[in-house]
Amino acid sequence: MDDKSSISFIHFSDTHIGNHKSFQLYKRNTFETSAKLINHINKTGAAADFVIHSGDIVNSPDDDSIQLAKSLFSKLIKPSYFINGNHDTPSMVENLQTGFSESIANAGVSRFFTLNNIIFLILDTQGPREIDPHGVFSEKQEKALSDFLSRSTGREIVLFCHFPPVSIDSPWVDRDMLMINGDRLHKLLVQSEARILGVFFGHIHHHFTELRDGILYTSAPSPFSRFSILPTDQQVRIESGIPISFNYVTISRDSVRVKLITIEENNFSQNQ
Ligand SMILES: [Fe+2]
Repeated sequence: MDDKSSISFIHFSDTHIGNHKSFQLYKRNTFETSAKLINHINKTGAAADFVIHSGDIVNSPDDDSIQLAKSLFSKLIKPSYFINGNHDTPSMVENLQTGFSESIANAGVSRFFTLNNIIFLILDTQGPREIDPHGVFSEKQEKALSDFLSRSTGREIVLFCHFPPVSIDSPWVDRDMLMINGDRLHKLLVQSEARILGVFFGHIHHHFTELRDGILYTSAPSPFSRFSILPTDQQVRIESGIPISFNYVTISRDSVRVKLITIEENNFSQNQ
């Protein structure tokens, strides 16, 4: 780390904005829950350096949904970064970003930005429709990331992606939702374990943390729904009466701290 003693970011995921404000998914209004989340972040997130949305921004990437998402997420005061989820398209995600400082051209690794000498790498692992809702870590990306890790020796790296790269000990997730070749990504990261500060993802609509071979994997919740991820869950079970929540991540010289923050909705006035 360079000049600052720590970097903080707010991580949330899977907002599934629909084509109108009253759109519901799993019996919950996705626009309203996201609006409350954004309002809360703008009021309380002053110390954060940026916001990251790890994908499934919209439920379906039609023009009306994209415009509604754009109008909503443009209200975020902090620099905001977005990952392409399996419900999104790369071009709409490009349009939502509010400030990349650098990019990797023709490398198959989407984008990165640097803060405090830390590299924040955003990996787009959306695959063809046939494998949905899996993602895939392609051979091209593996080569590009391997080269990138070689070129950036000595620099600390944070990785963002939509799909879980590793199994999470929940049968339906491990069968249906993982990043294909995520084990290859994991092996690559383990080779640079000392400088990989964490892998942050979404897609499973649930907070999750695992330290595997020295690599920290953490997912952020969805504001409007939660998928059950128990070791006994053979099929997805959806909980929608859940509190709006997000992760608050702080990286300092000696730790990576992840706080699951829950919003008390009664704190909001009628004009949200
Ligand atoms: Fe997803």
